[in-house]
Amino acid sequence: MRYLRNIWYVVGWADEIGRDLQELRILDEPILFYRKTDGTSVAIGNRCPHRFAPLHMGRLEGDNVVCGYHGLAFGTSGICVHTPNANGKIPTRARVKAYPVAERHALVWVWMGEPERADESLIPDLSYLTAEDRHRVQGKTLVVDAHYELYTDNLLDLSHVQFLHGDSSGLDFLDPMRHGIEQVGSGILSKFEYGRALPAGAFRPFVKDPTLRGDFWLHIKWDAPAVMTLEVGFRQNGERAFIAKNTHVLTPVNDGQCRYIYCGTRDWALDDEEADARVRAWHRKAFLEEDKPMAFLRCRSDPGAAHAVRHDRPRRGGVGASSASGPDRLSRGRRSCSTAR
Ligand code: FES
Ligand SMILES: [Fe+2]
Repeated sequence: MRYLRNIWYVVGWADEIGRDLQELRILDEPILFYRKTDGTSVAIGNRCPHRFAPLHMGRLEGDNVVCGYHGLAFGTSGICVHTPNANGKIPTRARVKAYPVAERHALVWVWMGEPERADESLIPDLSYLTAEDRHRVQGKTLVVDAHYELYTDNLLDLSHVQFLHGDSSGLDFLDPMRHGIEQVGSGILSKFEYGRALPAGAFRPFVKDPTLRGDFWLHIKWDAPAVMTLEVGFRQNGERAFIAKNTHVLTPVNDGQCRYIYCGTRDWALDDEEADARVRAWHRKAFLEEDKPMAFLRCRSDPGAAHAVRHDRPRRGGVGASSASGPDRLSRGRRSCSTAR
């Protein structure tokens, strides 16, 4: 499968990388993640160049990784720094790939392209995650069985919210939804707005008058390939009632799986543990019980659907002609659906 390479990908939350050796697969490459003794994170290839043993089954000695099979040791730049054999003579090609890593906004990011092009200023601005006037309710990173573009599609098209999540969220929409798209820097902002709505159930305890209708909005910002911030806002009598900012990031593991990194942030009730519990319950309900079966398992139940769509497309040049991108895209979708569980 082809991926965007010269770009930062989120690996997970900073507190999910420690002094233990972890293999995490990103863009179908097995990568070893750990922290050095000074606390900075490291990413190197996880296959020993000697007999291809997984290095995460070895051990750390200071900042070096010692392969558990025959004892070669590798430094944080991926170069072999010690061999217990061959009279200590290290073969020049004994090295694994080293990946640039950055830590920003409580997240660990890895650069999967040409190392010399790794520029930390290209990391999307998610500074609200660590803003002092916000509280973060972080979910544990999940590995889910779906192509990352299916998740992206689900998140960017929020017209499903009032139907799929209407009961669980307690949203009450009176006016038809208005939708607009804007380019913001190198990202896209997709805006869903509703007038004369009641505040969603989870937010009712925190607004002045829960029976007063106001303006409700869902704005989702997308940065390639799949870093998204969902702003959920409500205004009563022209006065801002609340703005929640939620992070949704999908990092491809392979053709049929992705890492899902998500969290909610709020700028009210900062120390309210009950509010945290409600957010966690909502995440479980919305993502696992509502989005997952509807949005990610949809093709699996009828794999022929994708085939039918493919042949319904109008084509120039008669039967058999195809655009360069269409069939590739659809065939990717079919592969992802067949691996969903
Ligand atoms: S496979 Fe790693 S040292 Fe032999
Ligand atoms: Fe959803």
